[in-house]
Amino acid sequence: MPPAPANLVVFDHPLIQHKLSYIRDRSLSHRPFRALLYQIAGLMVFEATRSFPTVEIDVDTPLERTRCRRLKDNGSSITVVPVLRSGLVMSEGILEMMPEARVGHLGLARDEHSLKPVTYLKRLPRDLAAGPVLLVDPMLATGGSASSALSILKAEGARDVRMLCLVASPEGIARLAKDHPDVWIYAAAVDRELNSVGYILPGLGDAGDRMYGTT
Ligand code: URA
Repeated sequence: MPPAPANLVVFDHPLIQHKLSYIRDRSLSHRPFRALLYQIAGLMVFEATRSFPTVEIDVDTPLERTRCRRLKDNGSSITVVPVLRSGLVMSEGILEMMPEARVGHLGLARDEHSLKPVTYLKRLPRDLAAGPVLLVDPMLATGGSASSALSILKAEGARDVRMLCLVASPEGIARLAKDHPDVWIYAAAVDRELNSVGYILPGLGDAGDRMYGTT
């Protein structure tokens, strides 16, 4: 296994690990799968946003004026970008915590011949540079599509990009550390390896199929 890059946060938190253990269970159906994924994303975003910019403001409590901090632009310059389709549920859990954030969408599919990711949908706010960007994809497997997504976001102007995933592979982490060493990765777990067709082991199977009941 390659050495862990400095910019990786793995959530060794009892609540997250508890919920992840249910998500991994093959007998869990799509409805609780989505609910748990939504909750985990809400917990993870607490740490992933720790250094988000804030501004100081004065607030009048019923007793006196006091200095407080609020998210810069009230959170409206933050952008959450789910990779379709499996990033959608996590992005909803994140938005529960930051309802003012904008949402960009990226659809990436693997070209059958080149096996490289091809963008079939890109809808992003124009001024991505105005605030932090959270790229969301539950499975960081080969890192190919995540690397492409990060390149797209940077080409569109994003300067502070962080990646949130549920389960990462050592191979995917190594790929992002090489292609995007400036990007912080937040993962609930780093699993053992990829199998021959790019699934994470032990993993949880196909995240999109599991969450939408299309297995
Ligand atoms: N995508 C998934 O949904 N699962 C994996 O294990 C790898 C990629």
